[in-house]
Amino acid sequence: MQTIARLDPLRSALEVLRADGKVALVPTMGALHQGHLTLVREAKRAAAHVVVSIFVNPRQFGAGEDLDAYPRQLEADCALLAAEDVSLVWAPEHSAMYPQGYATNISVSGVSEGLCGGDRPGHFDGVATVVCKLFNQVMPDMAFFGEKDWQQLAVIRRMARDLDLTRPSADQIIGVPTVREADGLAMSSRNAYLSAQDRARAAALPRAMREAIAEIERGEAVAPALDRLKSALIEGGFASVDYAELRHAESLVCLDSLGQDPARLLVAARIGSARLIDNMGVHL
Ligand code: PAF
Repeated sequence: MQTIARLDPLRSALEVLRADGKVALVPTMGALHQGHLTLVREAKRAAAHVVVSIFVNPRQFGAGEDLDAYPRQLEADCALLAAEDVSLVWAPEHSAMYPQGYATNISVSGVSEGLCGGDRPGHFDGVATVVCKLFNQVMPDMAFFGEKDWQQLAVIRRMARDLDLTRPSADQIIGVPTVREADGLAMSSRNAYLSAQDRARAAALPRAMREAIAEIERGEAVAPALDRLKSALIEGGFASVDYAELRHAESLVCLDSLGQDPARLLVAARIGSARLIDNMGVHL
């Protein structure tokens, strides 16, 4: 497994990999956990070579967010990836991603509005911009993202469609179901911020979501079910709830009732110094 930090050697190494078969990209910000390794394994099933990018992208962190505190552990991450038979780790230095004078931004409207886009202004511009750059740098046949960041996946697919991207094309942007801890908490690098007590309490999030989904699926009104979900989180030890919404699973348009369209419950809530997000499907 090669670890590369600059563009010229990346391009040379990719030429060799591409001559040998399909290349799949798994973009990450490092601090890898089982969720990431599941993405890598899915990618490995689909392509001869897996490239994992590791880059803590400053443009997707707002003022006062956890950019400085974000866990960085390149050596440990590379050891995990080597064991997964990853061909190449693309860990660009800052100037390889954003050279002096860098001035371009990609902004995807619609799907990036509200939810995390409302609470974290500019966040999805940062994500779309860096992911577009990663796609152009690696030019993979396909790319794998966790469904845990459901809105992010919708933004990236919209961008790929709107900009006619071909490597990868929008239909080769693959979402992988969220990997959960034994108590149901979605795996996230940010779970590392939780104290032991808050970690135990955090399981209230998936539990309350499942309860709200059961209520909505048996025909109870959406708004009161979401209110009960928010109260359950506060009672369960969360400090605040940024949002709890039922949305169309693809367009992310707000839904106030369950119909034939695929629906998704999306929640962000704060506990201790962590902001946790999660989402689950809701079916008629
Ligand atoms: O999901 C992430 O880890 C990041 O948002 C991504 C897609 C790697 C872009 O920096």
